[in-house]
Amino acid sequence: MINVSMDDVIGQDEVLELYCENHWSSAEKPDLLMRALRKSDALVTARLDGKLVGLANAISDGCLVVYYPHMLVHPTYHGRGIGRKLMEAMQTKYAGFHQQMLTADCSAVGFYKSLGFEKAGMAEAMWIYGGNEH
Ligand SMILES: CC(C)(COP(=O)(O)OP(=O)(O)OC[C@H]1O[C@@H](n2cnc3c(N)ncnc32)[C@H](O)[C@@H]1OP(=O)(O)O)[C@@H](O)C(=O)NCCC(=O)NCCS
Repeated sequence: MINVSMDDVIGQDEVLELYCENHWSSAEKPDLLMRALRKSDALVTARLDGKLVGLANAISDGCLVVYYPHMLVHPTYHGRGIGRKLMEAMQTKYAGFHQQMLTADCSAVGFYKSLGFEKAGMAEAMWIYGGNEH
């Protein structure tokens, strides 16, 4: 049974396992990663029998705009509806916000489309990025 929570306490080792399994470069900055996750406006976790199998975070102005920086599920557990549960929890929390934004990895575009996201009109995502996995 998957347990999805918005007030979970996360540990560094389990978070790093999740990021390393997905080859995400944030794992190379564990102190900053943990601070970033803990300071997020919202952090939602998914656990299976206590094991951390997914998480997502949000940063927001609290009224109009929310941005979803991280969304990842342990590869062993992909395709079981965990990502959907994580994003649905976020969309419930931020229902009615004027703008819900994210930058989708090419391989995750179908996932986000299935949750109601669409290409942002004529807008183009722009960034200064220190990672390398996108
Ligand atoms: C993207 C990711 C979070 C999806 O999580 P998941 O638990 O495997 O997804 P779910 O099982 O909840 O799938 C939800 C829906 O999205 C669809 N979906 C999932 N991955 C998909 C993909 N790569 N392409 C197209 N559709 C996809 C599923 O078919 C499902 O549709 P349905 O509910 O209508 O049947 C997961 O694959 C992951 O962690 N990937 C690596 C990290 C990553 O890319 N994160 C996003 C960065 S922008």
